[in-house]
Amino acid sequence: MSADVHGSLDWLELRRAGVDAAQVVDFSVNVNPFGPSPKVREAILAVDISAYPDRRALLLCEALAVHNGVGFENILTGNGTAELVWLVAQAFLRPGKRALIFGPTFGEYRRAAAAMGATVYEQNATPPDFEISLPVWMESIYQIQPDVVFLCNPNNPTGVCLPERQIRMLQGACPAHTLFVLDEAYRAFYHGELFAPPLEGNGVVLRSMTKDFALAGLRLGYAIAEESTLQALRRFQPPWSVNAVAQAAALAAVDDLNYYEDSLRKLRSVTHDFKNALMGKGAQVIPGEMHYFLIRMTHTSVPHFRKELLQRGINVRDCASFGLPQYIRLGTRLPAENQKLVDVWHLLESG
Ligand SMILES: Cc1ncc(COP(=O)(O)O)c(C=O)c1O
Repeated sequence: MSADVHGSLDWLELRRAGVDAAQVVDFSVNVNPFGPSPKVREAILAVDISAYPDRRALLLCEALAVHNGVGFENILTGNGTAELVWLVAQAFLRPGKRALIFGPTFGEYRRAAAAMGATVYEQNATPPDFEISLPVWMESIYQIQPDVVFLCNPNNPTGVCLPERQIRMLQGACPAHTLFVLDEAYRAFYHGELFAPPLEGNGVVLRSMTKDFALAGLRLGYAIAEESTLQALRRFQPPWSVNAVAQAAALAAVDDLNYYEDSLRKLRSVTHDFKNALMGKGAQVIPGEMHYFLIRMTHTSVPHFRKELLQRGINVRDCASFGLPQYIRLGTRLPAENQKLVDVWHLLESG
């Protein structure tokens, strides 16, 4: 299963390949490689796991509300941002409704919209640079009159980031009934700020603390929107969806912002060095500002390349599920780990 719909390690695949998961450096995910703050580990140890978590994650919602400049009733936490994507689809899509997705992008929008029986339209940016044409995208909104729009910004996997003005233009092109979903899972990696005020009007902003706060094993996402929109999502959320450990971890993380701001700054420079080293080995890196990036493979097939790397304890994201079978996506890791990939690059990708 090399062209899976998501990154991260697949233990069954590793077992079949005879590879020990503990030995693999995982470049297939876009998580902050510096890991969580030490305060998060302390907070986790203090959690009473025999007690149910607060259903509303009240303390966390209050903290997130203060940082984002909204009321706590405008925040809904989820078991990862992926859960929130599914709640949007459940609450706002069904047969006869239309979802418009700006891609190529995160696959859960399509899966969730299709699972609800909605008609799914995709407007995709194309290689080599994946730049978007705003007039074309606006026209697609006028033509399709979607019930839900999914826009991932900065986008996964292309790394393209639209300025706020263009986002507002896309939102403004939507009919009054459209729910405009802006997935900012990677915002902090681009702008360096961990929080920001949400969209105005009828929009939902999604953020993923899984990524910037490095909580991938716990997963924590949140939505910011008008209370009535969040009430609609809540109707479909299982109770106690965000467990006590995740709540405590996220709360402690928000209490140590200096640690994360510092790690995001370091990540920029590590990414810069990593890309340069790969380009020095002849890799065709697609330019961008993000800590994850696409590479166009020219001399070898991606599934073969990926398999060879896995045997050497390296996991990369095959981009076939994004409709980009000639590309891999790499998420920057720590310097020594990055070097491991740089060292084997030319052995595998040579003409
Ligand atoms: C754009 C985007 N949104 C949401 C998610 C899901 O995040 P989480 O792990 O918090 O569910 C991902 C994960 O890859 C993503 O790339």
